[in-house]
Amino acid sequence: MAIKAKLSVGILGATGMVGQRFIQLLENHPWFEVAWLAASDRSSGKSYCEAAKWRLDTPLPERIAQMTVRPAEPSTAANGNQSVPKVIFAALDAAIAREMEPAFANAGCAVISNSSAFRMAPNVPLVIPEINADHLHLIEEQPSRSSTGGYMVTNPNCSAIGLVMALKPIEVRFGIEQIFVTTMQAVSGAGYPGVASMDILGNVVPYIGGEEEKLEAETLKLLGKLNGHVVEPLHAKVSAHCNRVAVEDGHTESVSIKLGSKLGRPATREDLLAAWAEFRPLFGQGLPTAPDQPIEWAPQNDRPQPRLDRNRGNGMAVTVGRLRPCPVLDWKFTVLSHNTIRGAAGAAILNAELLASLGKLEPVAEAAARA
Ligand SMILES: NC(=O)c1ccc[n+]([C@@H]2O[C@H](COP(=O)([O-])OP(=O)(O)OC[C@H]3O[C@@H](n4cnc5c(N)ncnc54)[C@H](OP(=O)(O)O)[C@@H]3O)[C@@H](O)[C@H]2O)c1
Repeated sequence: MAIKAKLSVGILGATGMVGQRFIQLLENHPWFEVAWLAASDRSSGKSYCEAAKWRLDTPLPERIAQMTVRPAEPSTAANGNQSVPKVIFAALDAAIAREMEPAFANAGCAVISNSSAFRMAPNVPLVIPEINADHLHLIEEQPSRSSTGGYMVTNPNCSAIGLVMALKPIEVRFGIEQIFVTTMQAVSGAGYPGVASMDILGNVVPYIGGEEEKLEAETLKLLGKLNGHVVEPLHAKVSAHCNRVAVEDGHTESVSIKLGSKLGRPATREDLLAAWAEFRPLFGQGLPTAPDQPIEWAPQNDRPQPRLDRNRGNGMAVTVGRLRPCPVLDWKFTVLSHNTIRGAAGAAILNAELLASLGKLEPVAEAAARA
């Protein structure tokens, strides 16, 4: 889809870990242009370079550095007569998102959110374009859609996204009855400054508040089926153990699964490898942020590793490896994904691109039609 006029977008929580990734990934985006930045009262009124401690390894774009951080309010009046864009990427803590995201949706914005606040709400889509784009239909169930046109769409928890992308091709061919997953999650997943260095250096913290519950519930919703106006979660058992480890970026997960009976015979290693290699998503491919190969196989017996594999597909591909029989369930493997790209900002940008391609961000669709 060729786009001539870029669509203005805003970032809520622009100064944080995920907010910074949005700025990095949206620089030179072919369809979207950052026109509005907002954060807390601590940052509002300052220039972005004063307000944010830039933590990424590419330079802060000069245009963004000089932009003024605005109050996190949708009204033009609160924004010094600057109108707020109709497409908002949100990177707020869940407690704040719970109040703020509906306010922006009610004001007519498409809110594309990273937070957990509404991921499990029955009328809010939790979406990975390559996996369950059809769940976007839930947008039409939100009251704001019929009143102002605004709505909320969410992307998954950073540990759920890699797991679900690895599981989807397996679920389609064989079915899945049980999932046992142990995560090793990077420190950037806790935002900035996150976990104190004295707590994490040379250490593993076997607890991330609320993470196991999110990983278990979101996995089943993402792999679930849209039935009329509701998503019926996948009927399977999931058990998650979540750990914080001394890795900067990239969540690694050790997974064991018990397969269903869709194939009619026991699946072989070749069957599983073929399911990953031959996976062709119905949606998502060809969008600007989509990787050519969403699931990459690493044949070496000591891969994937965060430092070596997290940037595959510009951080948007997940890497699977170490597939072998599991003596307790059926099969076990390792999956790795970049937590602030595929697991956060990149996921939200891909969702926005999907919405644009489906004509749900109208100005983009109009621009496309003129092209
Ligand atoms: N990091 C990850 O890997 C990851 C992955 C997936 C999802 N997420 C989710 O994404 C969200 C953001 O995470 P993060 O890691 O970027 O957190 P973070 O680094 O702590 O950033 C939080 C952002 O929210 C802003 N904020 C705080 N209070 C506010 C308020 N009252 N009003 C408006 N803005 C406010 C902060 O602004 P100030 O700078 O002004 O305080 C900052 O911009 C969370 O819900 C998180 O669970 C994170």
